[in-house]
Amino acid sequence: MLKIKDLKVSVNNKIILKGVTMHVNRGEIVLLLGPNGSGKSTLAQAILGNPNIKIIGGKIYFDNKDITNTSMEERVSLGITSSFQIPPKLKGIKLRELALEILSRRRVPDPEEKLEIYASLLNLEEHLNRDVNVGFSGGEMRRAELLLLMAQSPRLVILDEIDSGVDLESILILGEAINKMLLSGTEGAIIITHTGFIAKYVKASRAYILLDGKTMCHGPAETVVKHIYEHGFARCKKCEGLTHE
Ligand SMILES: Nc1ncnc2c1ncn2[C@@H]1O[C@H](COP(=O)(O)OP(=O)(O)O)[C@@H](O)[C@H]1O
Ligand SMILES: [Mg+2]
Repeated sequence: MLKIKDLKVSVNNKIILKGVTMHVNRGEIVLLLGPNGSGKSTLAQAILGNPNIKIIGGKIYFDNKDITNTSMEERVSLGITSSFQIPPKLKGIKLRELALEILSRRRVPDPEEKLEIYASLLNLEEHLNRDVNVGFSGGEMRRAELLLLMAQSPRLVILDEIDSGVDLESILILGEAINKMLLSGTEGAIIITHTGFIAKYVKASRAYILLDGKTMCHGPAETVVKHIYEHGFARCKKCEGLTHE
């Protein structure tokens, strides 16, 4: 459903992505791994169509349609959405109100019932009446974010470092909820992680390693994650058993 071909982008005249090639098939969860500063969040923003990101080469296709130069609004209407690396705090807006508003705008039948299902899945029942992210722990914030994404039911979801600063129990809950999303409407997911923690809990089929703005190698998710745990990112250029660009 998503295909990225030799993408090169700059931000504030600095070249950040120097050749990204990857794809996500329908029904697939793909991991994007890379150390801090390798360009993962920039790639997420480029897929979303953030206007601060200047595309200087390559193409992005969605459903075989070239979307390289389409606006962020158009991409949202195609069903592409993302989590925030740093979720905003919304004082005065309750998590319940915001989720119900999203569900109602989508004209989902029985929004209250749907919300209860999502909240129970994400263990957030007790937090629905709190202001969004205000005083939330890391794990609660990530779970709340996923709840709001589930309410949106995007076709393609990009989850940026959803497993950072999060306790193990929350990672498990998030992983299961992501798997469920893929079984109920969402057609594809890109999970960005520099720790790889979430890999154990999501049914990811493939993984890519991004180093210094380039997709260096890719392979079955399990093989890639195992390689990184054994050798770190630095040796990825020489790694065996993975496909190199
Ligand atoms: N607005 C910006 N202006 C200049 N450099 C930026 C900007 N945003 C990101 N960068 C740089 O781009 C590189 C990749 O950043 P980022 O995409 O956030 O990496 P990652 O998410 O993999 O940690 C970093 O060197 C970062 O400093
Ligand atoms: Mg990042």
